Amino acid sequence: MLGFIGGSGLYEIEGLSVLEEKFIKTPFGDPSSPVVLGELEGRKLAFLARHGRDHSYPPHLVPYRANLWALREVGVDRVLAVSAVGGINKLFNPGDFVIIDSFLDFTKRRKSTFYEGKFSVKVEGSDKVARLLNSGKVVHIDVSEPYCPQMRMLLMEILQEKGLRYHPAGVYACTEGPRFETPAEIKALSALGADVVGMTGYPEVVLARELTMCYTSLCVVANPAAGISSGRLTSDEVLELMAEKEAQIKEVLKEFARRLPEEKTCGCSEVLEGAEV
Ligand code: HPA
Repeated sequence: MLGFIGGSGLYEIEGLSVLEEKFIKTPFGDPSSPVVLGELEGRKLAFLARHGRDHSYPPHLVPYRANLWALREVGVDRVLAVSAVGGINKLFNPGDFVIIDSFLDFTKRRKSTFYEGKFSVKVEGSDKVARLLNSGKVVHIDVSEPYCPQMRMLLMEILQEKGLRYHPAGVYACTEGPRFETPAEIKALSALGADVVGMTGYPEVVLARELTMCYTSLCVVANPAAGISSGRLTSDEVLELMAEKEAQIKEVLKEFARRLPEEKTCGCSEVLEGAEV
């Protein structure tokens, strides 16, 4: 099943005919919102609000593991996440979409793996993920291609067709937050190759991947990153831009739900082959 994770400014999906709302408890704690199961464009899907429906979870305290596990519990095997980002690359302007293809991790205190060897949380189930956790295995997943290429390609097609400004690739730097960055930090991130900066893309991407899910991220440039343009940065600015883009984002998500083929052409689900020690 397809799952959407909504970021800042995206707390529900209009047009989604809601079938059920599930309050799921996971071995990794409670997710930040109930999982809404519904139908969009004839396709059954799941929606979760990353920051909670009332935006009460700051980026560094989002229960990323519980969120991904809750989606797994309802049968999600592909995740499309929407995130607001700051633009570092001078070609990436507010309002642009970015189909990121890699990340840099600068987070500091987040649980970024399910696989903790002998310290792993024990879970129910009998698939490979459950077996690896329950047998206390150490697992190293490959992230040469962290974002699902099939999903990325479809996003590009849709954005192209709709005539929306987008960048087909980009490096996402994830900072710990919740504060914005200093101009010096943005300069450093730029030198390291980052195009955009956000606070929530990591560890979400790797946790999804560890569960063999396809994952991709639709980033929306909400503001020039600190020091790129003059003046101070505010949450108001980010939320205002996301509100302006809301209709477009929802159009893209709708089309995505309609067009994503059931058949996978990517290798995301084989990520655990040969990954255990
Ligand atoms: N920095 C970090 N996260 C963000 C930004 C930013 O400038 N804009 C939106 N999310």
